[in-house]
Amino acid sequence: MFLHTCPFYLDTYISLMPQITYKTSEGSSKTIEVENGLSVMEGAVQNGVPGIDADCGGSMACATCHVYVEESWLAKLPKAEEAEVDMIDMAFEPKKNSRLSCQLIVSDELDGLVVTTPAKQS
Ligand code: FES
Repeated sequence: MFLHTCPFYLDTYISLMPQITYKTSEGSSKTIEVENGLSVMEGAVQNGVPGIDADCGGSMACATCHVYVEESWLAKLPKAEEAEVDMIDMAFEPKKNSRLSCQLIVSDELDGLVVTTPAKQS
């Protein structure tokens, strides 16, 4: 069978990149393969995911990359630093599961992460 004799063929169908699911407040969702080392924000911007503006380009100065992390993922993420928490306070409708997506760096451990964008960015 061709699949067993040509490993290059398999490479095109087996992705090793983590998948991140971006949901909107209206209920639609989009799952994107994001390269390790990029931020969750960069994965969204590079793939045209709506609802993440990222006005400051990831320098943690705008809070327009605000997302709500699915509850089951909260404990698996690195804790937000004080500066991120301060910036989240300025975001639109912050909640206990709010994070700045520019501060979430994609790795294999984040494969399957689900985030939801707020109804609007501040
Ligand atoms: S992109 Fe501005 S704070 Fe994240």
